[in-house]
Amino acid sequence: MTEMLTVEPTFYVNNVPVYGDVILSPMAGYSDVPYRALCRAYGSAMHYTEFVPVEALLGRRVHPRFGQRLDKQAGERPFVIQIFGNDAHKLLRAAQRVLEWEPDIIDVNMGCSTRKVSGRGAGAGMMPQPDLVADTFRLLSTHLPVPVTGKIRLGWDEDQKNYREIARIMEDNGAALIAMHGRTKVQKYGGQADWAAIADLRQTVSVPVIGNGDVQTPADIERMKAQTGCDAVMVGRAAIGNPWIFARRDKATLTLPDVLTAVRRHLAEMVAYYGDPDGLIQFRKHLKQYLAETTAVGWLPALLALDDVPEWLALMDEMETAVSANPLPL
Ligand SMILES: Cc1cc2nc3c(=O)[nH]c(=O)nc-3n(C[C@H](O)[C@H](O)[C@H](O)COP(=O)(O)O)c2cc1C
Repeated sequence: MTEMLTVEPTFYVNNVPVYGDVILSPMAGYSDVPYRALCRAYGSAMHYTEFVPVEALLGRRVHPRFGQRLDKQAGERPFVIQIFGNDAHKLLRAAQRVLEWEPDIIDVNMGCSTRKVSGRGAGAGMMPQPDLVADTFRLLSTHLPVPVTGKIRLGWDEDQKNYREIARIMEDNGAALIAMHGRTKVQKYGGQADWAAIADLRQTVSVPVIGNGDVQTPADIERMKAQTGCDAVMVGRAAIGNPWIFARRDKATLTLPDVLTAVRRHLAEMVAYYGDPDGLIQFRKHLKQYLAETTAVGWLPALLALDDVPEWLALMDEMETAVSANPLPL
């Protein structure tokens, strides 16, 4: 008798299965269609768009600057569209609008710390507004056919760490998952992420919890999971130029050809999506991170100066031949 091979989901977001426990963070300017394709190939288990302001979604036509953020690749599931705003009814209308792009999940950004967003009560500016949080999750979870989730911080500042209260309100009003970056709004990216608070959140709610903040290596993934009991780990900055983290491979153990295989593939995705030369120009910020701390870093200025894709690829080949003579792993 032949046995069927079945793979169990790692966890569910209401009825949406998630296979895997490491997830690329939503990152404006980075987690676009091409980079998500790469991270997905290496094992990222959920696919968040960059955040989209509700105002861009409420006109007759979606604002073109943000329209691209709603794109997905075929087969990209679960696909999570992240929106932000400071008004529950606008958030609902925007969420209803983005259903056209067929998200599996809609996520509300409650973590953005920039003054432009949090200063007007959106992003992390929602954390001190429990009534707004309750209204938003009640409205969205009752009127949408897909699960609604939120990505929060610890609170506004050291004296207002109210993540417990906010998480309970979210859960009571229909949130299907909570992701938390273990810092306050005022901390922005300073200091250390508080993983003990993520463990505390895990004990506070019964919906799945994603832990986030300062995961830099595969060992950190295991440490965060062990210390917090979170259902999955979200990786942001350390994933830039490092999609191997989703395969639990340490970048320090790779060879230069491994790195260049990903670089070429990522560039091909960028050019296919943004065109030539826009894809190459937008790829530069990624390239800096790919080559940082490798033996090829000295080639960066020459590569960054080119805006012709065939010339760029030829220079990459030249670089690979020259650097391969070098015995160091990276
Ligand atoms: C350049 C950049 C853009 C970001 N954009 C978003 C965003 O659009 N939505 C969001 O929820 N968080 C955003 N974040 C926050 C990350 O998702 C994540 O919470 C934060 O970087 C902490 O995780 P890390 O220590 O793994 O980087 C952004 C962070 C960075 C560095």
